[in-house]
Amino acid sequence: MIEVLDLRFKEYISEERIQERVKAIASELNLKYEGKDPLFLGILNGSFMFIADIFKHVNIPCEVSFLKINSYLNTSSTEKIKELIGLNQSLEGRHVVILEDIVDTGRTLDYILRTIGERNPASVEVATLLHKPSAMVVPVQIDYVGFEIENQFVLGYGLDYNGYGRNHNSILIKVDE
Ligand code: IMP
Repeated sequence: MIEVLDLRFKEYISEERIQERVKAIASELNLKYEGKDPLFLGILNGSFMFIADIFKHVNIPCEVSFLKINSYLNTSSTEKIKELIGLNQSLEGRHVVILEDIVDTGRTLDYILRTIGERNPASVEVATLLHKPSAMVVPVQIDYVGFEIENQFVLGYGLDYNGYGRNHNSILIKVDE
């Protein structure tokens, strides 16, 4: 059992399984975006490990840039969507791939997709490490999913609980008291 602040967690997805899926997704991206000069947009903070690991296996010419959005408080999504920070380059005619840590209700990704769509990219795809299908409120496009998971709070591998727990190499799941 692993304690993070006032909650208890146990291992849910091992480091090995994560690395396997990350490699598989990177291979798909290499095939799909060969010769397309893609622009990867990593959504911070939670995706920082996913972005880094994906990029160890992406071997085609590409760019990466980082955006930040904060819309999350405690263990459930808030309705409040804040501003997308860091989108200061042209997306006109670019093949954009969004890298997310987790899609929960879909609200954050929906907002990101609408904001990016306004900038006239040639195409937009989404890769997320985790997806909670049963938590989805706003249906959004997702093209690459690492793992579909149950509707429970998870952390580790970049994901946090009130800022803590990002520094685990595996994904941990909350244990009910
Ligand atoms: P959504 O807008 O409800 O889809 O939430 C997306 C954001 O909420 C993610 O980018 C995460 O930052 C955060 N989030 C959702 N579920 C979890 C979780 O189980 N653990 C940690 N963060 C989460």
